[in-house]
Amino acid sequence: MDNVSSTFHSSRQPVYRAEYGAAYCGDSLELLADLKDGTVNLVVTSPPFALQRQKEYGNEVQDRYVDWLLQFARLVYHKLTPDGSFVIDIGGAYEKGVPTRSLYPFRFAIRACDEVGFKLAEDFYWFNPSKLPSPIEWVNKRKIRVKDSVNTVWWLSKTEWPKADVSRVLTQYSDRMKKLLQDPESYYSPKKRPSGHDISKGFAKDNGGAIPSNLLQIPNSESNGQYLRGCKLLEMLGHPARFPTKLPEFFIRFLTQPGDLVVDMFAGSNTTGSVAEVEARRWLSFDLDLEYLATSAFRFVQPNTPEEQLRELYAAIMAGLPVDMRDYFVQKKLFI
Ligand SMILES: C[S@@+](CC[C@H](N)C(=O)[O-])C[C@H]1O[C@@H](n2cnc3c(N)ncnc32)[C@H](O)[C@@H]1O
Repeated sequence: MDNVSSTFHSSRQPVYRAEYGAAYCGDSLELLADLKDGTVNLVVTSPPFALQRQKEYGNEVQDRYVDWLLQFARLVYHKLTPDGSFVIDIGGAYEKGVPTRSLYPFRFAIRACDEVGFKLAEDFYWFNPSKLPSPIEWVNKRKIRVKDSVNTVWWLSKTEWPKADVSRVLTQYSDRMKKLLQDPESYYSPKKRPSGHDISKGFAKDNGGAIPSNLLQIPNSESNGQYLRGCKLLEMLGHPARFPTKLPEFFIRFLTQPGDLVVDMFAGSNTTGSVAEVEARRWLSFDLDLEYLATSAFRFVQPNTPEEQLRELYAAIMAGLPVDMRDYFVQKKLFI
């Protein structure tokens, strides 16, 4: 028995397993339902978006989208531990044929709280500076809208007190703060600011880093070394809607501890599982598409794994053979 298969009620064979987790192919509605209640510490995921243009991985039309997504949210609620969290990255979209935005990311958050029982622990915004301008009609041609480069990322929790520790996700101090820490006297004399904030001497204490904000600036321009190399060698396209490793990494570190269970129910190229593996969190990744999961296994191999071995790995997964990534030298570092 490995680390995670006992989380299911029934016995299931993963597409592949690694040291801390396993990837399963199937409909997440069914896979989530089969998980034991109260066992998951964090679900971090990015669903197929309700874009107007149908993407190759399939979308529900906007009208039905929120109802569809709420079915998953209801299951997630039951599977989370009482201090568990559900982090969902939802990109925005325009309404059909007009330059006005769909409200669906907001409708989802409101209904997940009002109808399912989630709390909105905090709203995050993922700013992707490398996003290309779109939609072309409103932004490039008519020049009546600016480029949309922010996704909403809702941090929902089962109770008001989800497990969280900001000290695990501190960022680098600014140069000004570093100077202040070196020589606090010449920067601040303790006093009340006009805002009423009391800037006491404690402000100059070195906490090991700065507290991050809820605006996460992460360019989605990772080269995805092993993953894309493998796809290229096998002449396959990479998953069209990957999120950058830094996004799940932030929430995995912030909201879980080593040994906790992390689930991605729309895993795609299994960015989440590969980060969880490196962070020594147990993980379960689900996706409908076997090919996406088969190529996602490349994330777990050593750099420069020979093409032959990658072909063998891909073929074994597609043939439904049991694959243990430890036979392919699971890497303990992400090569991105
Ligand atoms: C936006 S992509 C996720 C990409 C992922 N975050 C990554 O970094 O590669 C959404 C994924 O959800 C999968 N999907 C859609 N409906 C599903 C369902 N009912 N059960 C499982 N997976 C589903 C699609 O196949 C697609 O790969």
